[in-house]
Amino acid sequence: MLRVETTLKYATLGLAAIVLVALAIAPFSKSLIEQWSRYDVEERSRLVYNSIHGPVVRAMADRAWDRLGSIFEGVAQDERILAVGLCDEAGTLVSPSKLMPRTFSCEKVARSEGESFSSIVNDGRKVLVGSFPIVDRAQKAYLVVLHDLSFIDARSGEAQTFLVATLAGVVITVAGAASIVAVLTFRGWMRSLQQAVADIRFGGARVTERRELTPIDMQIQALLREIDVGKVPFETAQIDWSPRTLQDLLHNALPGAEVLIVSNREPYIHNYSDHSHSGATITLQTPASGVVSALEPVMRACGGTWIAHGSGDADRETVDARDTIAVPPDAPSYTLRRVWISEEEQDGYYYGLANEGLWPLCHIAFVRPVFRETDWRAYEAINRRFADAVAAEARSEDPIVLVQDYHFALAPRMIREKLPKATIITFWHIPWPNAETFGICPWKERIIEGLLGSTILGFHTQFHCNNFFETVDRFVESRIDREHAAVTLAAHETMVRAYPISIEWPPKALVGQPSIETCRAEVRHKLGLPADVAIGVGVERFDYTKGILDRMKAVDGLLTLDPSWKGRFVFVQVAAPTRSKLPSYKMLQSEAVALADEINARHGDATYMPIRLIVCHHEPAEVLRLFRAADLCIVSSLHDGMNLVAKEFIASRDDERGVLVLSSFTGASRELSEALIVNPYDTHAMANALDAALRMPVDEQCERMRLMRQQVRERNVYRWAGRMLIDAARSRQRQRILDIAERSDRHPAKIH
Ligand code: F6P
Repeated sequence: MLRVETTLKYATLGLAAIVLVALAIAPFSKSLIEQWSRYDVEERSRLVYNSIHGPVVRAMADRAWDRLGSIFEGVAQDERILAVGLCDEAGTLVSPSKLMPRTFSCEKVARSEGESFSSIVNDGRKVLVGSFPIVDRAQKAYLVVLHDLSFIDARSGEAQTFLVATLAGVVITVAGAASIVAVLTFRGWMRSLQQAVADIRFGGARVTERRELTPIDMQIQALLREIDVGKVPFETAQIDWSPRTLQDLLHNALPGAEVLIVSNREPYIHNYSDHSHSGATITLQTPASGVVSALEPVMRACGGTWIAHGSGDADRETVDARDTIAVPPDAPSYTLRRVWISEEEQDGYYYGLANEGLWPLCHIAFVRPVFRETDWRAYEAINRRFADAVAAEARSEDPIVLVQDYHFALAPRMIREKLPKATIITFWHIPWPNAETFGICPWKERIIEGLLGSTILGFHTQFHCNNFFETVDRFVESRIDREHAAVTLAAHETMVRAYPISIEWPPKALVGQPSIETCRAEVRHKLGLPADVAIGVGVERFDYTKGILDRMKAVDGLLTLDPSWKGRFVFVQVAAPTRSKLPSYKMLQSEAVALADEINARHGDATYMPIRLIVCHHEPAEVLRLFRAADLCIVSSLHDGMNLVAKEFIASRDDERGVLVLSSFTGASRELSEALIVNPYDTHAMANALDAALRMPVDEQCERMRLMRQQVRERNVYRWAGRMLIDAARSRQRQRILDIAERSDRHPAKIH
């Protein structure tokens, strides 16, 4: 832009200078031309004098006045010469040519020794009289040559016209040249801008040549630097990710941005303590949900509105007229907006499409997905209800909306339709299967298109991002840019990135926890276990993807492999009932109970029960106490997006003791490589891993635990949210530049 301005400035100055010069020259040009012409005429007069001097002298000597007359007549043939004649000493005009003016008189001819010039007027026209002395013996005369000077006026008029025309030509040429330079420069600026935009979109891959930085480049680079909010510290340095970092990030990179979360599970559930409700008190429950444990600390840090299904039987009693309640109840820092779903809708949307369809579809657990048209319609309707709630709760036109999980695959597009400027970050908390598997879903295209309404779509691992790209490639007409991890559908671009989720550090539930010794003592006391019995734990929702049966079988294998562990090792499985309406879950529960009984019968006796299966919900503080009491923790998921239980176990062990046995089919296994990594389908190997864990020297436990704690501390949930918000900030600023570029295409003058 600066170059365009400079060009135009210099062009204007140049034009002004030309016009000034023209104005200054104009008055002088006439007299200049008169002078030049007069000089020219005088020269011609001299030429005439010199060329006829000899014949004139001879004619005078011969007194041949007729001859003299014809000499003069011949000379006067020249169109510029008006007349020629001879003035004798007495002042008489001798032998004048025909057109000698009547006003001419020899009296007026200067009597001088040398040539002289004077002017007379004849018929209103100026006439130059040149007089040249001619001496012949005793006679002295003056040859007079008269030139009509009227041509001089014509010539100076022509010259002025020519001057004006020339100046006009110069002005037009200069103006034209300036415009061309300005246009070319402006195009150059636009190219710079487009290049910059391409740099952001395509990582500079299309830069073909290196060139010097122009002021325009520098302006654009300043804009780009703004985009790279936190890039350097985030990617290269160790940031202490905390609620404060997240707040600062929001404040600096997304000033004034409004945050809204959409999830199925609410962070706080109000239930009546007694199902009859009569005179019952209301209790508060924190659900066993990875989504909740990850996002609740983020919301406490950022504030905003969390829109979720009001699933508690006392939920309606605790909200205000707008269905909202300030939470957490002990120190409110954000708003929970509850959305109501009828039982019938819940059967279709939650139990049906989400948990009988998408859940088994996305997890490799060999449970057949069920797809029903009625479930799909309910799913669509509930997604729309949540999208409407987002639009109703949003106070700005461009909020940041964090859409959570497989319950809301359609919501991103629906929200985009209502709030086109929103930054929609969708996080898919479960694995994304390969294209072939996903292809069995009857509404695959709709689900993909729904998700591609997002600004950013996140998965836990790159592997799941790759699966998603393949699925899109197979089923939806779109542009996939794998290098820059983006999919463009109907001119809308969605970034697809891996953001490994984590937990808060340190976990809120750790505050006020008793010492490790106290926890061990309490748990042993509660379970009736002697002090020398090693404890293994498993804590999760009672879900077939978690490999609960497989770990029980591994315990069985351990006790079979090395019976010396009988009486010296107990495995405590806490399983929170979940989705119990569904046959697959009911079956799992009964199978698990039967298997526990079978193993206990095989290896136990009246005083020893190797497996303790506790089927009930535990609040986070109770779970942490159990973790702190354990010698080992088993996470044997058959397939898991991340698995936060593994990270919670690590966070709970501030004594740096305890061993984590972790399935290689969890996202967590990519980060926690110091765990004992197992294949839950390989019972024998898992039994050996349990044996190794129980025998692991304390030093080795410390080494492994220290490294894993460092990993979870640094890669905590604030980092997870922070990375997405950084990308959201980049996307918003990128959009700002694209908007500028688009506006300037139509209105170039608006670029400043
Ligand atoms: O694992 C993905 C996830 O969304 C978890 O975050 C959550 O624990 C679970 O699935 C959903 O559980 P529920 O159906 O009980 O809400």
